[in-house]
Amino acid sequence: MILVTGGAGFIGANFVLDWLAQSDEAIVNLDKLTYAGNRENLASLSDHPGHLFVQGDIGDSALIDRLLKQHKPRAVLNFAAESHVDRSIHGPEDFIQTNIVGSFRLLESVRAHWNGLPADEKAAFRFLHVSTDEVYGSLGPGDAAFSEAHRYEPNSPYSASKAASDHLVRAYHHTYGLPVVTTNCSNNYGPYHFPEKLIPLMIVNALAGKPLPVYGDGMQVRDWLYVKDHCSAIRRVLEAGRVGETYNVGGWNEKPNIEIVHTVCQLLDELRPRADGRPYASQITHVADRPGHDRRYAIDARKLEQELGWRPAETFETGIRKTVAWYLEHEEWVRNVQSGAYQNWVQVNYAGRAA
Ligand code: NAD
Ligand code: DAU
Repeated sequence: MILVTGGAGFIGANFVLDWLAQSDEAIVNLDKLTYAGNRENLASLSDHPGHLFVQGDIGDSALIDRLLKQHKPRAVLNFAAESHVDRSIHGPEDFIQTNIVGSFRLLESVRAHWNGLPADEKAAFRFLHVSTDEVYGSLGPGDAAFSEAHRYEPNSPYSASKAASDHLVRAYHHTYGLPVVTTNCSNNYGPYHFPEKLIPLMIVNALAGKPLPVYGDGMQVRDWLYVKDHCSAIRRVLEAGRVGETYNVGGWNEKPNIEIVHTVCQLLDELRPRADGRPYASQITHVADRPGHDRRYAIDARKLEQELGWRPAETFETGIRKTVAWYLEHEEWVRNVQSGAYQNWVQVNYAGRAA
């Protein structure tokens, strides 16, 4: 079996669902259930014999030691993190605690467990660390996309904390020989994406008749990947990635934010037109920019493609259509995630950003 951390969040839940749809290998899913963790994402697995959910913290060494001893996973996949840049600007502490201290404690427990394995299991074991392109910093308009050799230049408390965890993972391989692989992925989108992030926020605000808050001029560029393609990349790296290596994951889909917002609006105009017949784009509002906002991310995914033969299945056009349709079909999920705590966050992040 494998141990997945953060498997009730956006990418982790998609990974767990896809894994169990394709494999008989069981998953122990450890998640703290922060504001971003949602058992509803895993509702379809309630009776699945191959899914064991454990609520807990990656920084709880005693719990991790017990889970490793009890279940003897052949791999640990670390998705758990505080993941939202804007929240890291308002309150970095949780990011330091989970992304740095938590990853360190998880690595320590995994190292002790791995050291005690017989030689063949030791050789086959993997620690797969899920990271981000944001560790590489910001690109200028004409710069080449991030390769795995790009220097680390994190600019937000979030990306700095992820960079620190990547360095720890690297060090545990170099110093102790722990068989690690790291993936650095670009922006994901798709089902179960929490509506604090750009695409789901635009969908839920549009449907609620609220402003669509575009930071600054909206010309910041992100490189979008459908979440299930990220999950297939992780499965492929787990299966065949070389120990000690990092693999960049991306779909060659660089787009400015304002174009993303217009695409979402056009799809909603088609699939769920406004009652008054006006376009959803009329709700777009430019608001104060994110402090330290990275201007452009772009992933060079050639290493993953050429070495491991991975390819994304979705284009941006097919993926974004599926995503908008998913949100329209899951009204209850959308309603439930916009709880009181979510409304507090909206107040904290947007109240001071008047146009
Ligand atoms: P998310 O915020 O949706 O989910 C994070 C999950 O981790 C939640 O279920 C939360 O409850 C859990 N968690 C948080 N702290 C924990 C702790 N201390 N112990 C155990 N569980 C904890 O995040 P996501 O978007 O699904 O991202 C997953 C991973 O992928 C993160 O490591 C993130 O840095 C990375 N990543 C995300 C993107 C993206 O576009 N979303 C892109 C590249 C990389
Ligand atoms: O690049 C990978 C990263 O992508 C992941 O590591 C992060 O976990 C994930 O959150 C994401 O970070 P971003 O900051 O790029 O994603 P977000 O959806 O927050 O913002 C995308 C872009 O949209 C960014 O340029 C900021 C902008 N934006 C965002 C929000 C929430 C807006 O213009 N308005 C908004 O209301």
